[in-house]
Amino acid sequence: MSSTATVTALFLVVVVLAFISTTTAEIRFTEIRSDPRPIIPFDEFGFTHNGRLELNVSKLSFSSTDLDLSKLGFFFCTRDSWLQVLQQIEDGEIACALQSNIIKQVYSFNSLSKGATRFDHYYPQSDADQYTLVFANCLPQLKVSMNVRSAMYNLEGKSKTRDYLSAGITILPRVYFLFSLIYFTLAGTWIYLLYKKRLTVFGIHFFMLAVVILKALNLLCEAEDKSYIKRTGTAHGWDVLFYIFSFLKGITLFTLIVLIGTGWSFLKPYLQDKEKKVLMIVIPLQVVANIAQVVIDESGPYGQDWVTWKQVFLLVDVICCCAILFPIVWSIKNLREAARTDGKAAVNLMKLTLFRQYYVVVICYIYFTRVVVYALETITSYKYLWTSVVAAELATLAFYVFTGYNFKPEAHNPYLAVDDDDEEAASEQLKLEDEFEL
Ligand SMILES: *[C@@H]1O[C@H](CO)[C@@H](O)[C@H](O)[C@H]1NC(C)=O
Repeated sequence: MSSTATVTALFLVVVVLAFISTTTAEIRFTEIRSDPRPIIPFDEFGFTHNGRLELNVSKLSFSSTDLDLSKLGFFFCTRDSWLQVLQQIEDGEIACALQSNIIKQVYSFNSLSKGATRFDHYYPQSDADQYTLVFANCLPQLKVSMNVRSAMYNLEGKSKTRDYLSAGITILPRVYFLFSLIYFTLAGTWIYLLYKKRLTVFGIHFFMLAVVILKALNLLCEAEDKSYIKRTGTAHGWDVLFYIFSFLKGITLFTLIVLIGTGWSFLKPYLQDKEKKVLMIVIPLQVVANIAQVVIDESGPYGQDWVTWKQVFLLVDVICCCAILFPIVWSIKNLREAARTDGKAAVNLMKLTLFRQYYVVVICYIYFTRVVVYALETITSYKYLWTSVVAAELATLAFYVFTGYNFKPEAHNPYLAVDDDDEEAASEQLKLEDEFEL
């Protein structure tokens, strides 16, 4: 089995795709202090034909007086046109991004009344597209200080209610709610199964129930959190609950994959030292990953520490994903050896097939939720950003269902009920496998 090759390939692709950006959409406050940057990007937002921007700038001050204020201002720019603007500057056509004809000028500091340290500006955006709000300072050596509040939203329906979620993700509250209902149903089904097969229930089955319930609660909080942002533009509704449940969900899911991989509780009642070590690596790393996730969500793609935390998150995530594969590989190795020595080839072959399948499914799950979803996010138009969320949730659902179905409590243990024909066939297959080193 070329597991190392697979894992390495996975790692590389994840690293290559490391720089993805998300569309955040909240009312944001940004403090800028003596900042000499020529370009300061704020938030990105997907507008419909009824988009609006509210810009409130206060505590405005400059490092020198007597300036050409037309060289300072806010503008909107799409990602594609930004590349063209850079080209124009490089070709010497324009000296300042604000002079370009492809940007949408929002506010030029020219309009600032003399001596003013604050202004409010309202800008209707009727061209549907995804724009980034950018501040340009085309005066070299000038340092700018200001407090910026930016609110971007779309007006929805006849009642013109404000929708603070970007155009492509505005249906996410409903999507998350729907998925949480599915998981609550799964949890109910699982409880029923545990009750019906209570004689063959192991500890791990209760752990699986906890994982499903946490996933359902996490989705419910995410639905409420997103719908709160949608209505108010701020994230402080259920976000704390959401972070708590995603933290617990993350830790329990990774622990569950490790425990199933080791065969704990249904193959053996204890964990080996090296298996415990995997848990001791994965659990603290999950704590770090969750802290990183909170910072990433709160700071937005143009925040100062965003890139650093994104890299921390990706690194930790990749280590966790690799670490959880080891116990499964060890179990597969042990089962192969046992199959050769203890004469119960059929029993062991069945377990072996199960563990091999599980290994492949875990790899697919990791690959899909990390790589395919990021790829989808990058290539889909801003209007359909929700599709990558749906794809990730469907893959996760499939993974939960597969795990539950394959490791469910059985009324009669299939590992023990094997007849002689199966035994012979299994021995043959093991011999064949040995020859080909599958
Ligand atoms: C921000 O500016 C908008 C548009 O001028 C105005 O309606 C709103 O009241 C201002 N908000 C604050 C908090 O000053």
